[in-house]
Amino acid sequence: MNDKIELIRRSVAPEALEFPLHALDGPITPNELFFVRSHYDTPMIKAASWRLKVDGCVDQPIQFSLDDLMSMPKVSVESVLECAGNGRAALETPVPGLQWDCGAVGNAIWSGVSVRTLLELAGVTDRAVDVVFEGADRGKVKNPAAPCGDVAYARSIPRDLALSGWPILVYEMNGEPLSPAHGFPVRLIVPGWYGAASVKWVIRIVALDHAFGGYYQTSDYSYWQVNDGLPELRPIGAMPVKSLIARPTRGTYVQAGERIEICGAAWTGTGEVTAVEVSVDDGLNWGKAEMSSPSVAGSWRLWSFEWLVKGPCGVRTILSRARDSHGRVQATERDWNYGSYVIDHSIPVEINVTET
Ligand code: MTE
Repeated sequence: MNDKIELIRRSVAPEALEFPLHALDGPITPNELFFVRSHYDTPMIKAASWRLKVDGCVDQPIQFSLDDLMSMPKVSVESVLECAGNGRAALETPVPGLQWDCGAVGNAIWSGVSVRTLLELAGVTDRAVDVVFEGADRGKVKNPAAPCGDVAYARSIPRDLALSGWPILVYEMNGEPLSPAHGFPVRLIVPGWYGAASVKWVIRIVALDHAFGGYYQTSDYSYWQVNDGLPELRPIGAMPVKSLIARPTRGTYVQAGERIEICGAAWTGTGEVTAVEVSVDDGLNWGKAEMSSPSVAGSWRLWSFEWLVKGPCGVRTILSRARDSHGRVQATERDWNYGSYVIDHSIPVEINVTET
């Protein structure tokens, strides 16, 4: 099925490529079909000269080569990676940012070294509360609120998460070395978090004694959270529960009396996806979908729903919604506090039902 499928280009420089979600064909997204989202030109890094520094609140600042990392215990995780702006093009009111349809998401097996291993080797101290990952890519940001001069792509995760054993410094994607676009030679993967946290081309890890206030988690990749009537800016972090419909696509024609398969993927930031429901009448009634792949922590689950198409004829709105083990249910309405990010509500797919 993958022979004629190609990524959709959303931006040339910096590179942004989208997976055509209708081509979803198994739990693992092939590397050549994995979406790409970069903020600057891809840095071309030579493996032999690449070094990773670990410093800040540590007993002993330390530096690693790629060979050092590869000689450490190798860990793997199957994890979904979704851009926080995925689905923007589907919003009724346009928001700024790359106009992704629904394919800025993929699922891969990532292998490398646990972040915990490196922090322990450097002797992270009790003062550390936040851990920053800095990429080798940098440049000017076209935003009057951005700092003057070049800004490196850098994001942080809280200390407890960094030491949980979950985040990995990855050098292999689906069993192959990372490609330059996906972060060669080494990138971070934070399973369960929006893709912005998974810094590519990592060259430095800094343990901080305060919450990092870098550009890509304050000015950008943040949202307003209203606490007791007071909106506060928060960095985008863990993903909520979400499902997407891969097929049928918008505008498909089906005949009353036909049996069609409605299918897609579902995932959640923590816990596991327990169910997906489908509505073929714009949310009035819901039926349970079959889960067609197992539940693997961090990964997405594929699902499908057989529909014996019945009238009324005309335009029909199909929806899917996922539930997870925390009891969370995917919202059917957009929460606009998320601005141009976190498009996690059920995205309607309109199709045309014709008479037999
Ligand atoms: N890391 C660096 N260094 N520079 C970037 O521009 N983009 C982030 C993240 N890590 C980015 C980065 C964003 S917004 C996303 S969604 C993911 O990388 C995309 O990873 P991918 O291109 O491998 O799919």
